[in-house]
Order: sequence, then C-alpha cells, then structure tokens
Amino acid sequence: MLTGRRILLAVSGGVAAYKAAYLARRLVEAGAEVRTIMTESATRFLGPQTLAAVTGVPPEIEMFDRPSVSPHTTLGQWAEAMVVAPATAATLARIAHGLSEDLLSATVLATRAPLVVAPAMHTEMWEHPATQRSIAIVRGDGHVVVGPGSGALAGGDEGRGRMAEPEEILAAVEALFEDGPLAGRTVLVTAGGTREPIDPVRYIGNRSSGKMGNAIALAAARRGARVVLVTTVEAPAGPIEVVPVETAEQMAEAVWSRAPGCDVAVFAAAVADFRPEAPSGGKLKRADGPPEIGLEPTPDVLRGVAAMDDRPFLVGFAAETGDVAEAIAKGKHERVDLLVANDVARADSGFGTDTNAVTLVAPDGSTEPWPLATKDEVAERLWDRVASLLPGGES
Ligand code: CTP
Repeated sequence: MLTGRRILLAVSGGVAAYKAAYLARRLVEAGAEVRTIMTESATRFLGPQTLAAVTGVPPEIEMFDRPSVSPHTTLGQWAEAMVVAPATAATLARIAHGLSEDLLSATVLATRAPLVVAPAMHTEMWEHPATQRSIAIVRGDGHVVVGPGSGALAGGDEGRGRMAEPEEILAAVEALFEDGPLAGRTVLVTAGGTREPIDPVRYIGNRSSGKMGNAIALAAARRGARVVLVTTVEAPAGPIEVVPVETAEQMAEAVWSRAPGCDVAVFAAAVADFRPEAPSGGKLKRADGPPEIGLEPTPDVLRGVAAMDDRPFLVGFAAETGDVAEAIAKGKHERVDLLVANDVARADSGFGTDTNAVTLVAPDGSTEPWPLATKDEVAERLWDRVASLLPGGES
C-alpha cells in the first residue's frame, strides 16, 4: 500500500525506540522507501546500526558535520510523510512550539509533508498539563496523533503513555495516502464481547478479547476505508472512529443508526444472546443468598442490519465449539454475504489468542478452510476477499 512512498521515520529518546526498528521494517515491507532520523538520546535506546540494517540507509543523527549542507531541509523535502515514533514529552514540546534545536525538530519545521506523531512516556508525564498543552497544539496544527495506549511502561510501571503498536502507526501512515482498494468506502466493524449487567458491578460476559475485530478495523483503515469501530474493548490507536459500547442493546443502537451509510459491516463482536431481564439497581448482597436471574433475549445486531432495505455488504462471524457444519446447519451463512466460522475450542484459535483458524462459508454453503494464521493475517486476507466481492471490485 505504500509502494514507492518516501517515508521519514524520526526516533526520539524513549524506551519505545526499540519498537521503531520494527515499525521501520513494517514500513519497508509495505513497500515504502524509508529514511530515518535519531536524536542523540534515541541512540541510547536503539543502535543506529539496527535502523541502518533494516532500512538499508544509516540514520541521520547530527545536524552538523554531515556531508549534506542542510540535512533538515534535504530530508524534509524528500519526505512524502514524516513519522515521529516514539515522540517523547520533550520532542512533543519542541514540535508544539516550533523549536528546532536538533535535527528531528528542525526537520519537522522544514517539511511540508504530513506528520504522524506517536507519543510515548510515563503516565505522569503524559498527564502533565504541559504535555497536554503540547499535544493539543500538535493536534490543532493538523498533525495526526496516534496513541498513546495503556499497558506496561518502562521500569515495570503500568498505565497510559505506552507507544501505539507499530501496526497502528503503520495504518495511520497508510491512511494518509488513501489510495487503498477500500478508498472511498465506509466500513463498520463490531468488536469485543458484550457485558450484560446483573447489578451495578456484575455482568454476564464472554471471553472475546476484541483482537480479531481490532485487526479487521486496522486492516480496513490501511486499505483507505473510513472505519467506524463499535466496540466493548479498548480500540487500537489509528485513523478509526471509535464508538464505545457495553451491552448488546447499546451495540444495536450504535450499529443500526450507522449501518445505512456503510458499504461493508463486519460483525466480529461476540454478542450476548440473553441478558438479565431485571438488573438490580443496587449491588446484590451475599447475605441475601444466591439470586434468581431471569434472562431475556437481546437484540440481534446482525439480523437488524440484514433486514435493512439498503444494507451494506455483510460479514458475519460464527463462533463454534464444534464443526463448521453446525454453523451451516443453523443457516448462519444465509443471513450474510460472507460468514467467517472460527473454532473457539482450539487452544490456538478463537477468544484471546493471537492466531485464528477460520473457515469461510459462502451464502450457497460452500466452504473454504484457511490455514491457521495470525489475526492480522486473517484480517488482511478477509479484506482482499471482501474487496473482490464488492460492486466495482475485481472478482
Ligand atoms: N450477533 C449479533 N447480535 C447478537 C448475536 C450475534 O450481531 N445478539 C452476530 C455476531 O457478531 C456474529 C453472528 O451474529 O457475527 C453470529 O454470532 P454467533 O454467536 O456465532 O451466532 P448465534 O446466531 O448467536 O448462534 P448460536 O449462539 O446458536 O451459535
């Protein structure tokens, strides 16, 4: 998707710099020509030789004593997109205030290319009013900010401030060029497992991690689609419109109101079929003994969209603990344009895993088992297939 694009990757000095090497590799794999800049402190976290080996060109570090008389303008003019990953608090502040005291920040000023910034720092630094001012300015200047997400940080700490994953940053870069096979299309994806309240603190839920839906949303964004992700879990950082929901009812409302304008809807969420009919307003007490929880059906999100006159191309998922024949016997493939049946009983497939073993089922019931693959790979392959089946796609 980035074939021949000139991407300038700038790395500042945080521990997430080690992930920049993988980002560089992913950019190269996506077909881009990649040049890199490192700040002095970035070289403490990542060896320049690593970036040189991955991209084929040594990173630029110094502003002076280089063969190029003006490295910041040369690189700035060369780039079709510039990515700062990780962007430390100091680098963010420099970008926000137009300071050009090192090669990285000077190049940010010297380029007219779109800029993608992936902040990474400790939670305290991220939440500091000074950093929040910087990020508001950076956003206000029209730059694309990806992340940060939450998770493990340096020194064993946890919290918000973790750099977005390389795949998420890659999706943001690819979306800048919007020349993918899904350019001009709007895609709706559901992800995660719904939570149906029993009382204010307890719920009926399921083991869905949302990884498959997240991968599908990101892969669509990488192909240039406008993506709406209706999800019960944390969404990936990227050029995606996120609609957070918890229950099947909320998911139904969010999806049904947005589906009419969409070209494709992918239902990767694990939606509860039943919910407590009368959730308690207060926390149930142990002393009151085991509660009797009566259940009632939830709205079927997918069926609601399938019944629409001008419905999008529908991709359903069928979580099975047995043979895919069960999904077919239940007629799940007849409601959709493509059914992805996955075996959630296998240890390497289904809920929470990074890989998935799926079988595609066409509306006529014909099946196509796919080999075990990562959820990212399944998502890529799925979009190749969907794109070929859409009106105007090459089939
Ligand atoms: N689905 C939905 N709304 C529901 C239940 C399911 O949109 N209330 C969607 C899921 O996102 C999935 C598809 O319907 O894409 C099939 O979900 P699954 O749970 O496998 O199927 P069910 O029809 O609920 O069948 P069963 O539970 O009997 O296997």
